[in-house]
Amino acid sequence: MLDPQILNDLSASARHAMDRAHVPVSSFPVGAAVLTAKGNIYPGCNTESIIAGLGVCAERSAIDHAVVHGERHFKAILIISNHHFPLLPCGACRQYLHEFAQIYDEDLMVYAVSPEGDHVCYSLSQLLPHSFGPKDKRP
Ligand code: THU
Repeated sequence: MLDPQILNDLSASARHAMDRAHVPVSSFPVGAAVLTAKGNIYPGCNTESIIAGLGVCAERSAIDHAVVHGERHFKAILIISNHHFPLLPCGACRQYLHEFAQIYDEDLMVYAVSPEGDHVCYSLSQLLPHSFGPKDKRP
């Protein structure tokens, strides 16, 4: 489990990002924040396009934000939305997260928080069992 103060910081960062979501298609804002091995936090929000399939989820936005800052080693990600129960990452984001986690042989913690403050926590391997990543490639 994460330190409660860090969890609070991640939550505040994700909430702030959620308020900046660009959601003309779904009107469903999502915020996320990743915690890196260096202890830094990078937020992300979903951004949508009227062209189907062009949008980006909050989770991948947060990861890309960290990558731009030279960080790829993630300890945890927290997701927040107005969904009535804590929203966990979609399959594409689970795969995206796994491909970074596999580099460091580390099992990322995934937290999801509801508007009421309820939260759930899973390891990425619980959310994406029997995964496939870059290290599993065979010629
Ligand atoms: N979305 C996320 O950003 N993260 C999730 O975990 C699930 C869904 C976004 C994608 C789209 O912009 C909107 O929520 C509705 O599906």
